[in-house]
Amino acid sequence: VTIVYAREQDLPANDFAAVLGAAGMGQNRPVADEPRLRQMLENANLIVTARDHGRIVGAARCMTDFAWVCYCAEIAVDKRAQGGGIGRAIIEHCRSILGDGVSFVLAAYPDAVGFYERIGMTRIADAFVFNRERGV
Ligand SMILES: CC(C)(COP(=O)(O)OP(=O)(O)OC[C@H]1O[C@@H](n2cnc3c(N)ncnc32)[C@H](O)[C@@H]1OP(=O)(O)O)[C@@H](O)C(=O)NCCC(=O)NCCS
Repeated sequence: VTIVYAREQDLPANDFAAVLGAAGMGQNRPVADEPRLRQMLENANLIVTARDHGRIVGAARCMTDFAWVCYCAEIAVDKRAQGGGIGRAIIEHCRSILGDGVSFVLAAYPDAVGFYERIGMTRIADAFVFNRERGV
C-alpha cells in the first residue's frame, strides 16, 4: 500500500466527516452539523491527511502558532487501516512541518492512551479544561 501524507488546508467537510465516522469517532464529533464542521476546518491551521489511492484513510486537525505550541484537536484513522502505522506517520508529518521548536499537545480518548504512549509522547497530569456545554 502506498499511503500519501499531505497538508490539506482545504479538506472538504464531507471527507472529514467520512474519516471521523470510519474511525469510530462519529459519536464524539459533530459529524451531522455541517456548518460547525466547516468552521472547525476553516479555523484549523494545520490539517494533515493520509490517503490511499485518493481515498481518505486518516486525518489530524490542529491549531498552532508554528512557533511554540500545536494543539491537535483530533486524529482519526479508518478502522480498516488502523494498526498499520498511519496514525504514527500522520503525527510525524505534522511534527516535521512544525519543527523542533514546537510542542505537540492533545487530549487522548481513554482507548487511545496506549497509542500515544507507544509513539513516545509524555503523559501530563496537570492539564485543565473548561468542557463545552453544547454539542457532542
Ligand atoms: C488512535 C489511532 C489514531 C491510532 O492510529 P493507528 O494508525 O491505528 O496507529 P499506528 O498503527 O500508527 O500505531 C502505532 C503503534 O501504536 C500501537 N497502537 C495503536 N493503537 C493503539 C491503542 N489504541 N492502544 C495501544 N497501542 C496502540 C500500534 O500497535 C503501533 O505499535 P508498533 O509501534 O508496535 O507498531 C487510531 O487507532 C484511531 O483513529 N482510533 C480511533 C479514534 C481515536 O481514538 N482517535 C484518537 C482520539 S484522542
